[in-house]
Amino acid sequence: MFQPRSIAIIGASKKPGKIGHDILKNLIDYGYSGRIYPVNPNIDEIYGLKSYPSILSIPDEVDVAIIAIPAEKVLSVAEECGIKGVKILVVITSGFSEVGNVDAEANLVKIAKKYGMRILGPNIFGYVYTPSKLNATFGPREVLGGNIAFITQSGALGIALMGWTIMEEIGLSSIVSLGNMSDIDMIELSEYFAEDPNTKVIAMYLEGLKPGSGKDFVERMRRVVLKKTVIVIKAGRSERGALAVASHTGSLAGSDMLYDVAFKQAGVIRAYGIEELFDYSRAFATQPLPQGEETIIITNGGGAGVMATDAAEENGIKLLNPSDSLREAFRKTMPWFGSSKNPIDLTGQAVVENYVEALEIAYESPEVKNIILLYCRTSVLDPLELAKAIVDVKNRYRDVSKPILVSMIGGIDVKEASKYLNRNNIPTYPIPERAVKSLAKLIEYYRFLKKHKLESLTRVA
Ligand code: COA
Repeated sequence: MFQPRSIAIIGASKKPGKIGHDILKNLIDYGYSGRIYPVNPNIDEIYGLKSYPSILSIPDEVDVAIIAIPAEKVLSVAEECGIKGVKILVVITSGFSEVGNVDAEANLVKIAKKYGMRILGPNIFGYVYTPSKLNATFGPREVLGGNIAFITQSGALGIALMGWTIMEEIGLSSIVSLGNMSDIDMIELSEYFAEDPNTKVIAMYLEGLKPGSGKDFVERMRRVVLKKTVIVIKAGRSERGALAVASHTGSLAGSDMLYDVAFKQAGVIRAYGIEELFDYSRAFATQPLPQGEETIIITNGGGAGVMATDAAEENGIKLLNPSDSLREAFRKTMPWFGSSKNPIDLTGQAVVENYVEALEIAYESPEVKNIILLYCRTSVLDPLELAKAIVDVKNRYRDVSKPILVSMIGGIDVKEASKYLNRNNIPTYPIPERAVKSLAKLIEYYRFLKKHKLESLTRVA
């Protein structure tokens, strides 16, 4: 599915704006280098590619067939795909179990089983795998490469988030639309991504599991979590939200408390909104795992430091009480009215050199395990200059395994500086709380791994 040698698009159309057209166009334009076979009995060629009247007339093996024709025609075409020896059916078409057409979906699964095919969908917008330059969706084209695999049970929201990740410069290894999950589900995909060298973080929008698969979810996801971080938004938390889920993908939203327990047992990190999902994903995608809990906050604004301190306390982050010698070292980086207690307050008159020195001390001190760096826009310190200096220090200490998360607060030029930091793999947020919460999740995962890896070691002993 992710590295196919050939893809057929059944329902490829010459008409822009039709789904079969747009998927084909995305495949071609995004740069997929395998063989592409449009299938449509009414046309001879499209974008210089020969079109075939049916999948059976393609004189080559087909690994993946993308189906974008109306529901009533899907079963007979699936049968043909089976005869052809297709391995994966990607069924874009809606009109199956999500609208009560349960029998048609069961028959689709039956046909696939008969021929040993796997099904993604139906009722999906497709999938992307950036290492193969494969964009088989009717969503935005220019998905940025990276190491976050995004699995979504929602279609339109998933497409919207594709665009959002482009705007926010979030790099992805993959996007997979799950739809009705007649066959391939989020657990199996996560297991694939757990082994995928191009994926570091699995981010998921989840509405519900297949009925009866809760135990399976916990056991198998726990094994995934020992290899890759999994971050999940579980929608349908409220009573009315759960009803909306039932009529959307037909999944069981279930009791939110049960999901919460299942996520905790599996070591899955829960996000409570889209912003959190990608905030955490960005942190996990770019930062090393913590080697301990003690965290230092470096700031030029007392208020920002206090906000970050509150957020740290609320989110279970242990703020370091620096030793006298460490405080002495920090004291040399600030004017006499600064503070060398944690938060390290370099004061509003801080310039690049103050930040650089404080950061170097934090990187070098074995007392400090994690760094939160805050910056409030002041006229004495240009944000981009500071951003460049932070990247420079980070690169000099690239062998030191210490997470650093930044918050830059201010106007337009602060946004540019934040982009610069993000592009250089330093997760940067517009408010301190988002940086702190993201670090809290890194620490939560560190605790989970520590507990479970140690447990399994004891068992072996
Ligand atoms: N083999 C190959 N091509 C076929 C075919 C067959 N058996 N039967 C029809 N076609 C062609 C049609 O002639 C048409 O091509 P044309 O534009 O050149 O005429 C093309 O396939 C598409 O068929 P059409 O009948 O025009 O369907 P459509 O494009 O209006 O709708 C779907 C097809 C799949 C898009 C639609 O049924 C659907 O399910 N839409 C919802 C998809 C969705 O939202 N998914 C979930 C996203 S989250």
